[in-house]
Amino acid sequence: MEIRPLKSFKADLDVPGDKSIFHRAAILAALSDKTSIIKNIPLSQDANSTIRCLRALGARIDISEKDCRITGLPAKPAYELNAGNSGTSLRLLSGVLAAQPFASSITGDESLLKRPMRRIIEPLTEMGAKISHSSNYGPPLKFYPARLTGINYTQRTASAQVKSCFLFAALIAEGKSSYIEKKPTRDHLEKLLVLSKAAAVKRGEEIEVVGSQAMNNFSVTIPGDFSSASFFILGAIISQNGKVTIKNVGVNPLRIGLLKALKRMGANIEISCMRKNEADEPICDITAYSSKLRGISIGDQDIPSIIDELPLLAVAAIFARGQTKVTGASELRVKECDRIKAITREFTKLGAFIKELPDGFEIEGEQTLKGGIVDSHGDHRIAMSLAIAATRAESASFIRGLECSEVSFPEFQKTLKSISCR
Ligand code: S3P
Repeated sequence: MEIRPLKSFKADLDVPGDKSIFHRAAILAALSDKTSIIKNIPLSQDANSTIRCLRALGARIDISEKDCRITGLPAKPAYELNAGNSGTSLRLLSGVLAAQPFASSITGDESLLKRPMRRIIEPLTEMGAKISHSSNYGPPLKFYPARLTGINYTQRTASAQVKSCFLFAALIAEGKSSYIEKKPTRDHLEKLLVLSKAAAVKRGEEIEVVGSQAMNNFSVTIPGDFSSASFFILGAIISQNGKVTIKNVGVNPLRIGLLKALKRMGANIEISCMRKNEADEPICDITAYSSKLRGISIGDQDIPSIIDELPLLAVAAIFARGQTKVTGASELRVKECDRIKAITREFTKLGAFIKELPDGFEIEGEQTLKGGIVDSHGDHRIAMSLAIAATRAESASFIRGLECSEVSFPEFQKTLKSISCR
């Protein structure tokens, strides 16, 4: 897709429902024999991967526009489940598959085959799961019939996917389990467990779950996805004439590291209509305006709440005054692509200079982007970050593979086009 420089960046938008919350709500609903209602679901490829796998496992899922009804049990054996590009689908579903009395297997696309799975294989195996994997601890994962036993487990990788995988397995395992989380990660599943009145409690760093539970149904409306909203928030901020309002955006404190970082950089962002959904997830309307930014440092503790938005932080840093330095983010190397490499390589092609660090990047600000031909690396967040940066380049840019934005944000290209036509 060709992206031309934009003189102004103005829009009033809605974004798709939050992908992280949807995966968890759908899988939790599929653990009950009663019908749950999930409203405002994202209609993205990743969401569809979870729906496809749950249907293959026997869940009844009826979708009408953006609402769905899910009735889960009884589960039936399923081989060759395919999670596509979705690491969250594969890792979360593994917690359920490992605890079944039947054999099953799950795989994914070329990118997913390269992603690390030892982080979930270890805790599940400690619970008694029997799992085989590829030679580099990756998918396809095969699960053999097993009865899991609850364990106490302390976080080794600061990953919400690992935590949620563990909690799903713990709900089915025999006896109590506890997960101790030293570095907090998104807590959407914990909130949904409270909503569904599951026997699970959070005490400080510990989440305790009672095993062999009969799960209840629930009804929830999914907030707009902050990660999707971020692209257009940043588009307005770096524009010389920008104003974007996005309604109904989820602002769970463990997700909004970018919002906090942009405020520290001096961004002009207004939050209004703060409220909560049924699962106690905070929601608000966000308006972002053109802003003069200054560089900041982001370290280890900040990473989990900004992990998916770090490519966008790089865009902000290019236009900020002074230096921005990100460290402690080596997880970026094992996302849908090696995002540290992709950021340094592709933004360089647009005319920026970014210094690659083993666990992050360093950017001297107030740079000018010339524009150029760049590649998405098949990674939705890289593709969309490049497209937003290109709106502030001096001449037109071409993003190869921007269609992978459909993994999380099917309306991205259409929305960006509508802004360019205003
Ligand atoms: C996600 C957690 C994060 C994030 C991913 C979605 C989730 O991954 O990068 O896009 O929904 O749990 P990790 O848990 O591996 O950090």
